[in-house]
Amino acid sequence: MNLAELNKIAEAMVAPGKGILAADESSGTIKKRFDAIGVESTEDNRRDYREMMFRSSDAMSKCISGVILYDETIWQKAKDGTPLVDIIKKSGSIPGIKVDEGTKPLPNCPGELITIGLDKLADRLTKYYEQGARFAKWRAVIDIGAGIPTHSAIHANAHALARYAALCQAAQIVPIVEPEVLMDGDHDVDRCHAVSEWVLKETFQELYYNRVALEGIVLKPNMAVSGKKSAKKASVEEVAEKTVRMLKNCVPGAVPGIAFLSGGQSDEEATAHLDAMNKIGNLPWKLTFSYGRALQAAPQKAWSGKSENVAAAQRAFTHRAMMNGLASLGQWKQDLEKKAA
Ligand code: 13P
Repeated sequence: MNLAELNKIAEAMVAPGKGILAADESSGTIKKRFDAIGVESTEDNRRDYREMMFRSSDAMSKCISGVILYDETIWQKAKDGTPLVDIIKKSGSIPGIKVDEGTKPLPNCPGELITIGLDKLADRLTKYYEQGARFAKWRAVIDIGAGIPTHSAIHANAHALARYAALCQAAQIVPIVEPEVLMDGDHDVDRCHAVSEWVLKETFQELYYNRVALEGIVLKPNMAVSGKKSAKKASVEEVAEKTVRMLKNCVPGAVPGIAFLSGGQSDEEATAHLDAMNKIGNLPWKLTFSYGRALQAAPQKAWSGKSENVAAAQRAFTHRAMMNGLASLGQWKQDLEKKAA
C-alpha cells in the first residue's frame, strides 16, 4: 500500500469548494427514479442521463471532485464512443465505484440488514483499478425503530465496512466508508444523534482492528436529523450543531474529510445543513457532500428523458453543484437559490 498516494486521492476528493456526485444507483433504484419522471430504465437511457451530468463541464470541473459509478456505468461508452470514465477524468474529476452488492436480512436480527459483497472483492477491485477507479464506496444501512438497532447489527456492519476498507487500501483504492443511519421513522434528532454516535464509534473501532489507515479514507455519514415522520423537526442550526458535536466525538483528525449523504433531505435542506456546519468552522477535517438525490432530483426532472431538455437539465445540475460547492466552504446564502429560479 502506498499511503501517501491514497492520502493524496482522499484529499483531492474533499478539495475546498468541491464534493462528490453519487451517481451509483443500482438498477433497481434508478428504475424507481426513472419511473417518477416517466422514463423507461433501458441501458441507453441510463447512459444518456448520466452522460448529461458528466458533460456538464462547469459543474464537473469546478465543483465535483469525484463521481461514484455503478458497475454498468464504469464500462459504458458515451453515444460518440468515448468511455464515460474518460469524460469524467477529462473534466478533472476522479472516477469511483460502488462495490457493495446490496443488503440481505441479518439472521436472528428481525428487521435488520447486513451489506454483502466481500467474497471476490479483491479481484473486482483489481479490475476496477485497471478501469480507472481510484476510490470505492460501501454502504451499510442501520434502521432506527422499536428495539433496533441491535449491537449485533451495528457490529456486523461495522466489521464488513472495515474488511472492505482494508481490501480497498491493499488495492490502492481509497475506501468511502458509509455507515448510513436511515432517517425513516418517527424518532427525534436526539435519537438519531445517539444511534449515529454508537455506529460511528463501532465503525472506527473496527477500522482500527483491521489496520485501516485513516489518512487514506473518506467517511460518508448521515447527519444528525429528525426522522421523516417525527412530530418535531430540528432546525438547521440544531442539525449543524449536533452533527458537528457527534463527529468531533467519534472521528479522529487523521481522517482527511467527511462527505455527507443526503439521505432523503430536500435539495435545499441538504445544502443549508452543510453550509451551517462549515460556518461553525475550526474543524479538524473537511466537511463536504457526496449527494445522490440532493444533486440529481432537479436535473432528473428537467431532463425527463428528452434530448431537447439536456441543456436545461445541465443548468439544473450545475446550479445544485455550485450551491453545494459554496456550502462546503460555508459561503452559501439562501438568496442565491432564488436568483437562479
Ligand atoms: P443520497 O444522497 O441520495 O442519500 O445518496 C447518497 C448515496 O450514495 C447513498 O449510498
